Amino acid sequence: MSAHETITVELGERSYPIVIGRGLLGGNFAVSHYVRGTDCLVVSNETVAPLYLDKLLPNLDSRTVHSIAITDGEAFKTLATVQEILDELVRTGLARDTTVIALGGGVVGDIAGFAAACYMRGVAFVQVPTTLLAQVDSSVGGKTGVNHAHGKNLIGAFHQPQLVLIDTDTLNTLDERELGAGLAEVIKHGAICDPAFFDWLEQNVQALLDRDPDALAHAIRRSCEIKAEVVAEDEREAGRRAILNFGHTFGHAIERCQGYGEWLHGEAVAAGMIMAAELSGRGSNDVCRLRDLVAAARLPVEPPSIEREDWLAAIGMDKKVQRKKLRFVLLERLGKAFTTTDYDDARLQRLIGSNA
Ligand SMILES: NC(=O)c1ccc[n+]([C@@H]2O[C@H](COP(=O)([O-])OP(=O)(O)OC[C@H]3O[C@@H](n4cnc5c(N)ncnc54)[C@H](O)[C@@H]3O)[C@@H](O)[C@H]2O)c1
Ligand SMILES: [Zn+2]
Repeated sequence: MSAHETITVELGERSYPIVIGRGLLGGNFAVSHYVRGTDCLVVSNETVAPLYLDKLLPNLDSRTVHSIAITDGEAFKTLATVQEILDELVRTGLARDTTVIALGGGVVGDIAGFAAACYMRGVAFVQVPTTLLAQVDSSVGGKTGVNHAHGKNLIGAFHQPQLVLIDTDTLNTLDERELGAGLAEVIKHGAICDPAFFDWLEQNVQALLDRDPDALAHAIRRSCEIKAEVVAEDEREAGRRAILNFGHTFGHAIERCQGYGEWLHGEAVAAGMIMAAELSGRGSNDVCRLRDLVAAARLPVEPPSIEREDWLAAIGMDKKVQRKKLRFVLLERLGKAFTTTDYDDARLQRLIGSNA
């Protein structure tokens, strides 16, 4: 048994462990313990399955393992792909006690989780995230879903997993840009909740870029702890969970205006966090520290050039709702975020105008 750490997402009877360690795939952690029935369906994609499906099989020992590899890419995060998975579940005749196992990044996790939420009104679900973003963010918290032609993540359900299994060794095959995109969400967790973690990130960002296993394990563990705590307090995002969207209003706008895929989500969030810190009206020291950390992580510190009108439309402030006050996540200080509709409108206008 290899060394691993466990964090619990405390949600009453829906509580579940996040298990983090090196070399957990290959039989070093019995996922089968979390598989109630005899069968499971592993959902992966054409990139990740050849790398890790065989490694996952020993973790499922005596179970009957079915698998499906979906096409790689955010463009396939659609209802049509969910249908493919449901067809496979039905075709194979899998019963109510089946477990769906997501093996891949956030796209696979979101789609497989939604299919699990839908099949027979909800079957068990396990996340085996293989990107840094999925390990520190998307695999924890129970949000599942797919995109609609008119917007990202418009169709979905809350469906908590039974287990999140994070083998940090899977990051060794991840490309550098994807690693960086995950780091943006790690930095976000420090910025919104934990000044000491933010300090630690400033000291250790190079080790993270070098994929130092101990540094990665610490960053993943602390991120999961923060996300688990916020989710436990506000599972359905009635309030506090919204702070996890720090940098995301601007980030989503960047993704939308650039066409999805041009900028990775984490890259857009990186630049978006700096804009949100500026909107917070924090002393320049906090903004500088955030900017320096984002730059040290080799992430963009400036948004791309976007016309003011496009910004306004993309953040949901088009002409029809001109006077509408948006809700932003702002920093009270580095390490403490809050949500508000009471932001400085002149500052917002300057932020988006100066980039036209
Ligand atoms: N549910 C949530 O709470 C939540 C939160 C944040 C993001 N998301 C969603 O997550 C998605 C983004 O996830 P992502 O950044 O992981 O992207 P992704 O799933 O597209 O993965 C990025 C790329 O890396 C590949 N890959 C995955 N693991 C690999 C590995 N170990 N080695 C080599 N290649 C690997 C994938 O095949 C893909 O090509 C978005 O759809 C976003 O909406 C969901
Ligand atoms: Zn995000």
